[in-house]
Amino acid sequence: MVCLGNICRSPLAEGILKSKVDSSQVYVDSAGTGSRHVGHSPDPRSIEVAKKNGLDISQQRGRQFSAEDFENFDRIFVMDISNKENVLKLSRTSADKQKVELILNQIFPNENVDVPDPYYGGISGFDTVYDKLDQACDLIIKKL
Ligand code: 4NP
Repeated sequence: MVCLGNICRSPLAEGILKSKVDSSQVYVDSAGTGSRHVGHSPDPRSIEVAKKNGLDISQQRGRQFSAEDFENFDRIFVMDISNKENVLKLSRTSADKQKVELILNQIFPNENVDVPDPYYGGISGFDTVYDKLDQACDLIIKKL
């Protein structure tokens, strides 16, 4: 699960998908394309919205996406088109590129809809992000 800062959207996506899979079968992690929040806890608003939905994401720490992630993961879900471009810049093969997909294409196939960046808004933006990611993760596991 990849966004820009790895403090708002992708920590929620990681927490939600983790809660729906068997951790002995599926490894889920998240990262940011930027380095600004490496080592940071998720944004308090993401922690709050996760908690409201029964998830504890407070122990996650920000890390930056790297080319090595193409070796370690089968699928790479990005939150928006800018994340997608930045991740694709680090890809080396067509197999790498094929791993990368916009997460909301799960719900809206081929529509290339972004998960809106809630960072500069209020808590309601985080609720919206949570609901969209929850729906997308349900579809991801259905197809696994
Ligand atoms: P995220 O949100 O990419 O969903 O983690 C953001 C977090 C931090 C910043 C931007 C977006 N920032 O500019 O620091």
